[in-house]
Amino acid sequence: MTLRTPLCDLLGIDLPIVQSGMNRIAGPELVAQVCEAGGLGILAALALPPETVREQIRKVRTLTKRPFGVNLWLIEPGTGAPDVEVLRGAQKQLDVFRGRLGAPAKSAAPTVAPLNIRENIEVILEERVPVFSTALGDPGDEIVSRCHSQGVKVISMVASVEEAAQVERSGVDAVVAQGFEAGGHRSSWTGAEPVGLFALVPRVVDAVKVPVIASGGIGDGRGLAAALALGAQGVLLGTRFLATKESAAPEFWKKAVLAGRESSLTKVLSGLPARAMRNAFVREYEASGAPVLPPFVQRAAAQDVYDAATARGDAELAALYAGQSAGLIHDLPGAGDVVRALAAEAEAALRRAMSWQGSR
Ligand SMILES: Cc1cc2nc3c(=O)[nH]c(=O)nc-3n(C[C@H](O)[C@H](O)[C@H](O)COP(=O)(O)O)c2cc1C
Repeated sequence: MTLRTPLCDLLGIDLPIVQSGMNRIAGPELVAQVCEAGGLGILAALALPPETVREQIRKVRTLTKRPFGVNLWLIEPGTGAPDVEVLRGAQKQLDVFRGRLGAPAKSAAPTVAPLNIRENIEVILEERVPVFSTALGDPGDEIVSRCHSQGVKVISMVASVEEAAQVERSGVDAVVAQGFEAGGHRSSWTGAEPVGLFALVPRVVDAVKVPVIASGGIGDGRGLAAALALGAQGVLLGTRFLATKESAAPEFWKKAVLAGRESSLTKVLSGLPARAMRNAFVREYEASGAPVLPPFVQRAAAQDVYDAATARGDAELAALYAGQSAGLIHDLPGAGDVVRALAAEAEAALRRAMSWQGSR
C-alpha cells in the first residue's frame, strides 16, 4: 500500500503529511526533521523580522535538501487607538493576572509590533522557498503569480467553502481546509461559521479542483486515513507536532497537550478567534465579562502576562493554543518519528477498514 497522492508530486514530498508553521514553535530543527522523514515541514515566520526569516530559511537549507515551506498570516492589525473604556476594562482584568504573577499593573494602550507581511513575502520570493503557506487571508493573483514565476508553490489555509473557492480563483496550488477542531487561530477572514472537519473536507473537495489538505483534530494515523477517505490528498497537523522533541514550545505546554486538556474557541488571548486550552486565563477572563481589545491589540496588551507566566513555567496564565487532537497525543517523540508513525498507522487503519467488508 502507498499513501502517495498527487499532492506529494506537486510538493516534491514522499508522504502526504504537512507540519503546520506554528508561531514561536516551528523553527528550523522541527521543519528539517519532518522534511527528512518525507513530509513537508513549514517554518513559522509570523511577525519575525525579515532578516530573521532569511537566516532561518538558510538554516533549514543547511539541515535538509528536501522541500520545505514558510508560513505567514495575511491579516494586518487595524490602525487607530482602542476605545478608552474597552482598554480600561481589559487592563483591569489583565492586572488581576499581573498581580498573581508579581508583575506591575498597566493602563496604557500597548504597542502592536509590525507583522512585516510585505517584507517577509519578498524574502520568500528572493530565497525561492519551495512552498509559501498562507493563513488568514487570500494572497491574491498578483502575489501568487509572482510566487509561481520564482518557482514557489502556494498553499492557503481556509475555514469555509467560499474562502476555498476565493483562493482557488487567485491561483493557489493547494487549499488547506481547517476544521473547527483545529488548534490555534481560525484561518477565516470572512467571519465564516466554524465547520467540523468531517463535513468541511468533502464540501471543499467538491468545490475546488486543486488538492485539498485536511487540518484540525488529526492526532494519529487514523485521522490521516479518514482524511484520505474524505477526498483530501494530505493532512496538516499542528498540535501533534507541538508535542515533539524539536518543537520550541515550553515543557509545561507540551505536558498540557499530553494531559489532553480541554480546549475551546476564544477571543480573549489575541482578539481573534483561536482554539486554546481552558486554563485560568481563558476561564477567568471570559467569566469576568471584561471587554476584549481588537485583534492583535488584545495580544499585545496581554503579552507581558504570557511572558511572565512562561518564565515561571505557569501553565494557568500562559497562552496555551492547542486543538481537540490533544486527547489523542500520549508521547513526546522526535518529529521524524511522528511522520513515520502517522504513515504506518494510516496504512494499518485503511487495511483494517477494508478488511471489515464482508467479515461477518
Ligand atoms: C500552537 C499553535 C500555533 C499555530 N500557529 C499557526 C501559525 O503561526 N500559522 C498558521 O498558519 N497556523 C497556525 N496554527 C494552526 C495550524 O495551522 C492548524 O490549522 C492546526 O494546528 C490544525 O489542528 P491541530 O492542531 O488539531 O492539528 C497553529 C496551531 C497551533 C496549535
